[in-house]
Amino acid sequence: MKLTARSVSRAALVTTLVALTGGAVVFSATTASAATTLGAAAAQSGRYFGTAVAAGRLGDSTYTGILGREFNMVTAENEMKIDATEPNQNQFTYGNADRIVNLAQSQGKRIRGHTLAWHSQQPGWMQRLEGSALRSAMLNHVTKVMTYYKGKIYAWDVVNEAYEDGSSGARRNSNLQRTGNDWIEAAFRAARAADPAAKLCYNDYNTDDWTHAKTQAVYRMVQDFKSRGVPIDCVGFQSHFNAQSPVPSNYQTTLQNFANLGVDVQITELDIEGSGSAQASNYERVTKACLAVARCAGITVWGIRDTDSWRSYGTPLLFDGSGNKKPAYTAVLNALNAAPPISTTTTTSTTTSTTTSTTTTTTTTTSTTTTTPPPGGCTATVATLDQWNTGFTVQIRVKADSAVSGWSVSVALPSGVTVVNAWNADRSGNTGTVSFANVAYNGNIPAGGTTEFGFQGDGTAGTLSPTCSAR
Ligand code: G3I
Repeated sequence: MKLTARSVSRAALVTTLVALTGGAVVFSATTASAATTLGAAAAQSGRYFGTAVAAGRLGDSTYTGILGREFNMVTAENEMKIDATEPNQNQFTYGNADRIVNLAQSQGKRIRGHTLAWHSQQPGWMQRLEGSALRSAMLNHVTKVMTYYKGKIYAWDVVNEAYEDGSSGARRNSNLQRTGNDWIEAAFRAARAADPAAKLCYNDYNTDDWTHAKTQAVYRMVQDFKSRGVPIDCVGFQSHFNAQSPVPSNYQTTLQNFANLGVDVQITELDIEGSGSAQASNYERVTKACLAVARCAGITVWGIRDTDSWRSYGTPLLFDGSGNKKPAYTAVLNALNAAPPISTTTTTSTTTSTTTSTTTTTTTTTSTTTTTPPPGGCTATVATLDQWNTGFTVQIRVKADSAVSGWSVSVALPSGVTVVNAWNADRSGNTGTVSFANVAYNGNIPAGGTTEFGFQGDGTAGTLSPTCSAR
């Protein structure tokens, strides 16, 4: 047998495996197309997989190594909260938040903003405010922080934890609530005006069980907002689970019912206390629930290693304190890899039957065409399109068929449409066929990886068919 370098190394590998396994050759169950990181695995079905990041841990190379490798969405764990960004009234500080944003952008990751209006983590000056002074201060905070980060944030938790626990279904009594029941919608309207491209989320915990009063109360609020045109795009389910608050059996039902209101649902702060296979199967259930709901946009875990968690005693995360993958990690990865991909499949069937008095001949021709990447090396698809009376925003997802170091996307716009701004891309032209090229932080995309950019236009977008070419 003629041995090439490749066959020698493969033969050596098999020999080693045989030696290691005592004769039985064991290959990994992972198929050639299965992704090997959480972010890449989630991207196969058009979703993201994120984590909370603490600025204080960015000097830890084990932490940043896992962050860089596994996740494609980032939430600042504390650094974008009100006490961090506006410690003194109308004096804004973004140092730690920017460290996280800059790192995420340099790695082509998207960012969830957390959080703008919350009863907790208020700086002292805000805790002491009430009434119209607080209402103005809250709206000013929403506007200033969102304007500062305009174009950089995929989704904002505009309002966090506004409902009471227990059976009342009431709003939580807080200084914000005491400014008037319309404080939540006022925050959402200010948010839309500040950054029309960011998705605007309401985020809460203990809203996972469909039968709970708190879940029902939040559902009615979102239903009311949608019916009255109050801008809201998504609902965040924090999903902090433990023995006292286990993954409910109706979790998928909850996600689906909210999605049916016409909002995205996102799992925003997932952690599940426990260990071993029990913890792994709970993580698998949560992941599968998200994958079963078309508008479940992605999952964020609330930290990287168990030791990074706010509940470190409960070892609730996917990596142990040394950064090793836990069984829960493998369960999540496998579930993500088992989800149907978003690639377009065209199936054509032709059936011809000929019947004579004595015989029946049936010919069936089935051709299945899975859309293959065009020669451009990348594929552009419209990820979301929001259209209103006079304008629209569109997010376009660029997927690298093989690793690319730059890309450009052309979009032929209908006549009468003008692009008014763009984010995460450099734009050429604003009518007719408009080109968008990568910016410094999102040109490098690994094979199979994705990045998104977007633009806002005046007029009616109609059906857009972007084309991508890689450099
Ligand atoms: O950094 C200081 C340190 O200098 C100081 O010595 C120490 C003394 O207490 O405090 C440190 O700050 C702590 C900070 O976490 C960073 O570790 C704060 O006290 C502590 O309150 C803060 O807790 C955060 C908590 O929100 C505050 O509400 C957790 O990290 C964070 O994980 C947690 O996140 C929340 C979400 O925002 C909303 N949903 C629930 C979730 C879990 O509570």
